[in-house]
Amino acid sequence: MTATTTATRGTGSSTMIFPDGFVWGAATAAYQIEGAAAEDGRGPSIWDTFSRVPGNVADGHTGDVACDHYHRYAEDVRLMAGLGLAAYRFSVAWPRVLPTGAGQVNAAGLGFYDRLVDELLAHGIRPYPTLYHWDLPQALEDAGGWATRDTAQRFADFAAVVHERLGDRVRTWTTLNEPWVAAFLGYCSGVHAPGRRDPAAAFRAAHHLLLAHGLAARALRAAGAAEIALTLNLSPVIQTDGHEEAAFVDALLNRQFLDPALRGRYPEEVLEIAARHGGLGHIRDGDLAVVHQPIDLLGINYYNPSFVSAAPGEPANPAFPGTEGIRFEPPTGPTTAMDWPIEPSGLNTLLVRLSRDYPEVGLLVTENGAAFDDHLTGDEVHDDDRIGYLDGHLRAAHAAISAGADLRGYLVWSLLDNFEWAYGYHKRFGIVYIDFETQRRVPKDSALWYRDVIERNGLGS
Ligand code: NOJ
Repeated sequence: MTATTTATRGTGSSTMIFPDGFVWGAATAAYQIEGAAAEDGRGPSIWDTFSRVPGNVADGHTGDVACDHYHRYAEDVRLMAGLGLAAYRFSVAWPRVLPTGAGQVNAAGLGFYDRLVDELLAHGIRPYPTLYHWDLPQALEDAGGWATRDTAQRFADFAAVVHERLGDRVRTWTTLNEPWVAAFLGYCSGVHAPGRRDPAAAFRAAHHLLLAHGLAARALRAAGAAEIALTLNLSPVIQTDGHEEAAFVDALLNRQFLDPALRGRYPEEVLEIAARHGGLGHIRDGDLAVVHQPIDLLGINYYNPSFVSAAPGEPANPAFPGTEGIRFEPPTGPTTAMDWPIEPSGLNTLLVRLSRDYPEVGLLVTENGAAFDDHLTGDEVHDDDRIGYLDGHLRAAHAAISAGADLRGYLVWSLLDNFEWAYGYHKRFGIVYIDFETQRRVPKDSALWYRDVIERNGLGS
């Protein structure tokens, strides 16, 4: 696999072609797009509960209807095919398949993913299911949620159920999406479901999510899964003033998950902080061997780097226990509608670092993209800012491949505008615009641009 760059003499422009077989696609997640929250026997998830509590989600938005993808999936697959996508990453809603998280399988719920996979394959699109994208069945949360060890085993059982049904057609299985977010926004800062504010519970949740990944990976492999992946939110941590704080935040945010999954050990810094927040009694002998299963792909969700500086007296960041005295710096340059800095070079740094530090695993960008304040003008959405964002990040990815990173593909977040968690429908990440009143889908300029990128397997001049 090689990546080529061709400069056109005298024009200062260049063409960047990606390696043969590079996988181009787009991603979504069940709660963010499906809707049909109470249909066909789906049980409630922690996001159904959380989004109903006033103040948790902007304007009281919920995923009840979302993009109505549950009913419109065939239209959405046609859209994907029209853009030339080779891959589609979606998530399987655990409470659709097992309404109380365990026990009796809900055939109607599982049937939806069966139809979706068939539809994708009929259009030449490879399905990339993720088994956990934050919609824990409420019944399991009532029994302690991710802070409870048993949830990990329940997840492995769920993974086996889904594999049994889809395993003949799905090649690549992703266990978890962004366990850091599930644990630390869900159980520590409380801005995500289930909205708990308990650092000790967050460290337990993080460990049990890792254990869930390991148990599920083992079950999937035993059942014959061809490729297994774990998707992490990764962000290069940059120190703005020359001290040592970046390494500590990097341990909490990145290495807390990378090192157990890919090396079978926790970073010392994480053990130290977790020990001060509830102790380490939840980490049992043999757990790390279970967590450290051979996996084929590391899924990378990259949006921006994080900037930190030493700031004596600063209270801990609510999502980062132990960060007293560290300031998370606001962005100084251009930002997206999320106020996240736009820094494509962070993706290059990250990919090169990962391929150096964890050379045994292939890399796949499972999410990259941006929210901007898009406006529908007739039948068009002129989102040049998103095109600029995507173009910059693809150039950074190409540079990383040229530097030797084993990057196998790129999935844009997101195919559709959707329910952006605590921000509700106010933040639009889609390359396809959704009119939430009518459910009309309108490909934005970025979708048409992406179609051309896919067609030429790279960027033009
Ligand atoms: C990562 C999450 O996986 C996804 O659900 C979310 O919408 C995007 N980041 C944007 O915040």
